[in-house]
Amino acid sequence: MKILGICGSLRKKSNSNKLVKTIAESSGCDFDLIYLKDLEIKPCKGCAACMMNEGKCPIRDDMELINQKLMETDALIIGSPTYGWDVSGAVKTMLDRSSAIYFREIGPLYNEDMPFLGKRPLAGKSAVPVIIAAGFGHERALETLTLYLEHNNKMNVVDKIAEATYAQDVYDLPDVMKHAEQAGEKLGNALKQRSPELSLRYESNNLLA
Ligand SMILES: Cc1cc2nc3c(=O)[nH]c(=O)nc-3n(C[C@H](O)[C@H](O)[C@H](O)COP(=O)(O)O)c2cc1C
Repeated sequence: MKILGICGSLRKKSNSNKLVKTIAESSGCDFDLIYLKDLEIKPCKGCAACMMNEGKCPIRDDMELINQKLMETDALIIGSPTYGWDVSGAVKTMLDRSSAIYFREIGPLYNEDMPFLGKRPLAGKSAVPVIIAAGFGHERALETLTLYLEHNNKMNVVDKIAEATYAQDVYDLPDVMKHAEQAGEKLGNALKQRSPELSLRYESNNLLA
């Protein structure tokens, strides 16, 4: 069982990145961290080529790697700073481009067997969204991330973190760190308890939906 942690802040000493790492480390599971600051991800052009080409996006950049890892992961943590009462542009760009995975392995849009909105390969898997703000807008930003996980991807959100740090380092905020550790434990437990029935449902969704 493996967790993918996406550290969405482009800052070197990012609070949200620190929390994503802490959650992953507290899960007791294997994990892989991806830092958006190290990657190049261009915006979605809305060309719909992914719908026509089995989820393959024609833009050649590091999103190929993230989409591959999203397809393979058993659980997901995504962190973002709050920019203008929402997730950052870098994170939103990554969220938009990830919708290509809905069309993986299901053929062209106009194939009559293909569901119009594709499939949801992350359905039923567990997730934790993490938002950090200087002082305001974090609840609003959390809404964006939660909708992406729960509504768009049909994931099971086991805990959520949205905090304003007032320019403090998150390592100096024991309550926030404790919440992150607890969220990690919850995520780890959800993974370990993931029933064979759920896995089976997920597999059959993948084949039939
Ligand atoms: C372009 C921009 C917009 C921002 N907008 C907000 C905001 O709406 N509310 C807020 O409280 N902080 C805002 N901030 C501050 C960041 O949310 C804050 O620095 C946060 O700690 C960044 O998270 P990080 O440490 O993970 O990078 C903004 C910062 C930038 C650069």
